[in-house]
Amino acid sequence: MIVSILCLLATQAVAADYRPVFHFVPDQNWMNEPNGLIKIGSTWHLFYQHNPTANVWGNLNWGHATSSDLVQWTHQPLAITSENGVEAFTGTSYYDIDNTSGLGTSQNPPYLAWYTGYFPSNGTQDQRLAFSIDDGVTWTKFAGNPIISAAQEAPHDETGGLETRDPKVFYHDATGKWIMLLAHGGQNKLSFWTSTDAKHWAWASDLTMAQVPGLPSTAEAWEVPDMFELPIEGTDETTWVVIVTPAQGSPAGGNGVFALTGSFDGTSFQPDPVDVSTLWLDYGRDFDGAMSWENVPAVDGRRILAAISNSYGANPPTNTWKGMLSFPRTLALQQTGSARRFLQLPVAELDNVSSSLTAIQNQTISPGQNLLSSIHGTSLDIQVVFTINTDAVLSLAVRKAGSQQTVIRYNRSNGTLSVDRTASGNISYDSAAGGVHSAPLVPDSSGVVRIRVLVDTCSVEVFGGEGEVVISDLIFPDETADELSLQVTGGTAILQTVDVREIALN
Ligand SMILES: *[C@@H]1O[C@H](CO)[C@@H](O)[C@H](O)[C@H]1NC(C)=O
Ligand SMILES: *[C@@H]1O[C@H](CO)[C@@H](O)[C@H](O)[C@H]1NC(C)=O
Ligand SMILES: *[C@@H]1O[C@H](CO)[C@@H](O)[C@H](O)[C@H]1NC(C)=O
Ligand SMILES: *[C@@H]1O[C@H](CO)[C@@H](O)[C@H](O)[C@H]1NC(C)=O
Ligand SMILES: *[C@@H]1O[C@H](CO)[C@@H](O)[C@H](O)[C@H]1NC(C)=O
Ligand SMILES: *[C@@H]1O[C@H](CO)[C@@H](O)[C@H](O)[C@H]1NC(C)=O
Ligand SMILES: *[C@@H]1O[C@H](CO)[C@@H](O)[C@H](O)[C@H]1NC(C)=O
Repeated sequence: MIVSILCLLATQAVAADYRPVFHFVPDQNWMNEPNGLIKIGSTWHLFYQHNPTANVWGNLNWGHATSSDLVQWTHQPLAITSENGVEAFTGTSYYDIDNTSGLGTSQNPPYLAWYTGYFPSNGTQDQRLAFSIDDGVTWTKFAGNPIISAAQEAPHDETGGLETRDPKVFYHDATGKWIMLLAHGGQNKLSFWTSTDAKHWAWASDLTMAQVPGLPSTAEAWEVPDMFELPIEGTDETTWVVIVTPAQGSPAGGNGVFALTGSFDGTSFQPDPVDVSTLWLDYGRDFDGAMSWENVPAVDGRRILAAISNSYGANPPTNTWKGMLSFPRTLALQQTGSARRFLQLPVAELDNVSSSLTAIQNQTISPGQNLLSSIHGTSLDIQVVFTINTDAVLSLAVRKAGSQQTVIRYNRSNGTLSVDRTASGNISYDSAAGGVHSAPLVPDSSGVVRIRVLVDTCSVEVFGGEGEVVISDLIFPDETADELSLQVTGGTAILQTVDVREIALN
């Protein structure tokens, strides 16, 4: 009897293990960045860098999960395996609708996936192809791999092909060619390659840091490129966007994600001058290796990004898993006058799985008041819309109990949105785990400030304004820390609306 009670307690402790409610994590063991994101029919496919045998980086395969709503995921068998001494590193996938590869038929065109082959024996990285003729359920490695050998990479890579990786591939209608972007690890450079059959590739151009006017020189060691065309809201035009994860130099330190706009002629990308205030897609520590879903139907039309949330390797205090997918977010580009900014928001599918815990309207909050103190929850979608005195600071604390709390602040006097993890719980597992991350946020033209906070067990993702700034951070509070508070100091604020919604899946 005692034995079975102990077993039950142990099972519950393992079952909890900071597992999030509405974010994807591996069933067991390690993940790093997403790969090959693609929608096929009504199914969203997520592939991801996965070590299925240990809770650390290594033995990398493409893990696989599917979803009908980007919120609830079903684990699937490995899609592209580590095999015969070659691991399956990061890459992307695309629909070969014209069967240009000849790997499907005209009646049943193939889905293609390009990935980096990694030889742990000697560190070599080459580029490989896999295909699916059953709508992405199973994937077969192309018999002619590698499609780009280390020898073919060598003239275009300082390391002679040891560090050439992360193929982003798409079909470019205007030139009738496949385009591949490769990152050159440790270097500040992408290379562009072209192909007519997705199998034979020729180098076309390099994009180096020196070619990007205004890019901070600290944004070093580029990895995991993505590239796509995006409508410019407020115009009839589109622009090309290139997304990169540098290993260094992000606003919160370490790796992060920046986005460039520019033009593309099928051979080379000409970046627009960088506006540093709109360069970074996230100001937190935990949003890296961002990728977007391909093959989203035009009637939907969204460009949806997801990234890996974990900048601490195997250090976080989780036992059965490491690495969480960020909650999928839409990416739009808005033009006002000559100024452009990216806007990111959680996908609307989230609204379908939340229910209201409390809603406040038109209430003035003054120093000394504490709202939301009767609300409890650890998986929440909180939206606060307010105006605030020029010297006042609005503070929303989540995952709170006793002295533990994670505080989201809006400081009107310096126009700063911040996430304060100094009392978030366990911050000793990594030297980068605590601290305060901040982003510039000005009220809109009516003086209104909007903040949306997704809280999920071990993370906060904070969207400011219309989504012009985002701060994503992991947190590891005590399981019992489920309180909230909303307070103001240094003046009053008028809360137009406060919506606290709980997210619960069936
Ligand atoms: C697709 O590829 C298959 C296999 O090579 C080939 O038999 C077929 O003719 C191709 N169809 C088209 C439309 O290219
Ligand atoms: C790396 O090792 C693989 C497997 O043994 C071998 O095929 C390949 O030629 C090696 N590459 C280099 C550059 O040594
Ligand atoms: C924090 O997490 C690390 C890693 O799991 C663990 O070694 C450490 O004991 C934890 N610290 C506290 C204060 O719980
Ligand atoms: C919301 O949920 C309903 C019922 O499950 C489903 O039919 C609908 O497609 C969902 N809507 C979105 C936007 O996911
Ligand atoms: C809140 O205030 C706004 C502006 O004064 C008004 O339009 C709205 O009806 C008010 N809402 C409620 C619920 O009182
Ligand atoms: C708000 O910002 C001002 C100006 O930088 C600073 O002096 C003040 O300490 C900040 N307030 C809080 C509560 O952090
Ligand atoms: C503004 O104040 C916040 C604290 O409220 C601080 O974290 C941030 O660094 C300050 N930003 C600037 C630009 O001074």
